[in-house]
Amino acid sequence: MTHPKRILFTGGSGKAGRHVVPYLVDRGHRVVNVDLVPLDHPAVPTLDADITDLGQMVNALTMHGDFAGLETGTGPQPFDAVVHFAAVPRILLKPDNETFRVNTIGTYTVIEAAVKLGIRKVVIASSETTYGICFSEGETDPRCLPLEEDYDVDPMDSYGCSKVVNEVTARAFQRRTGADIYALRIGNVIEPHEYRTLFPDFFRNPARRRRNAFCYIDARDLGQIVDLCLARDGLGFQVFNAGNDTNGIDLPTAELLRRFFPGVPVTQPLGEYEALFSNRKIREVLGFKERHDWRRYVQA
Ligand SMILES: NC(=O)c1ccc[n+]([C@@H]2O[C@H](COP(=O)([O-])OP(=O)(O)OC[C@H]3O[C@@H](n4cnc5c(N)ncnc54)[C@H](O)[C@@H]3O)[C@@H](O)[C@H]2O)c1
Repeated sequence: MTHPKRILFTGGSGKAGRHVVPYLVDRGHRVVNVDLVPLDHPAVPTLDADITDLGQMVNALTMHGDFAGLETGTGPQPFDAVVHFAAVPRILLKPDNETFRVNTIGTYTVIEAAVKLGIRKVVIASSETTYGICFSEGETDPRCLPLEEDYDVDPMDSYGCSKVVNEVTARAFQRRTGADIYALRIGNVIEPHEYRTLFPDFFRNPARRRRNAFCYIDARDLGQIVDLCLARDGLGFQVFNAGNDTNGIDLPTAELLRRFFPGVPVTQPLGEYEALFSNRKIREVLGFKERHDWRRYVQA
């Protein structure tokens, strides 16, 4: 670890955060978690604070993380970076307008507090749902495959729409302040135990995975992607798909295209199992190297 950082992480108690935060701690970073519920990690304090409240976020970014901070006598240390994962993570958990409100106001508030306090690196959680297939009314086709970051994103639903707005918010603050703000379009997050509990059903019912374009991201590989974003400065505003190298299913890519996306233009040659949710950009720009291919954990 060459660049240990002090990081404020929002949503660290959630499905993705509870794997990404330990990954970052193991890499030498010091993390303070902001969430409505605590994270069970001995080295990571949780501050119970609401991401939609600017006063609370300004305080979170200017407070001690724990009692040890008092001992220096020099006041709270500044944060080097913010990783913002807290959100309502899909539709149908809250009323649509509440999903949109928490996600858009929360992201605006976290980024505004961070950059106005002089923090120069913010990583936010966007989503594969921006591509508009996941929560569409009825079955819809993408305009082309594989899904890459320059796609004209067009979701129908409140959650996907909130994530598109968040990318626009991030871009605006980046232009205004020059801080680096990277948005990760996170694929379907898979925790280590879920290879056993979920994948057998994916193999039996591949059609169920069409709405995700068959993507997945191992929660620990997502930790690597966040860490690479923290290490890599100077890219301005960026959108990165955060997915694993291959599809999360035991069928060749050509067969998935033939069975589930007939007639959708394919814009480039694809490897035998190469993901339709492309992770080319994180590999080429950030140097991502997948460590947790599903094949290590479950047999097709
Ligand atoms: N899980 C996935 O497959 C997936 C896929 C794409 C994108 N994402 C995005 O990744 C991020 C993390 O997702 P997750 O699956 O871990 O979600 P999660 O719901 O498990 O975790 C989100 C956390 O945010 C916290 N939170 C919610 N509202 C808050 C508020 N107002 N103030 C403070 N904390 C609040 C929750 O308490 C929770 O611990 C989210 O932004 C989500 O939209 C997730």
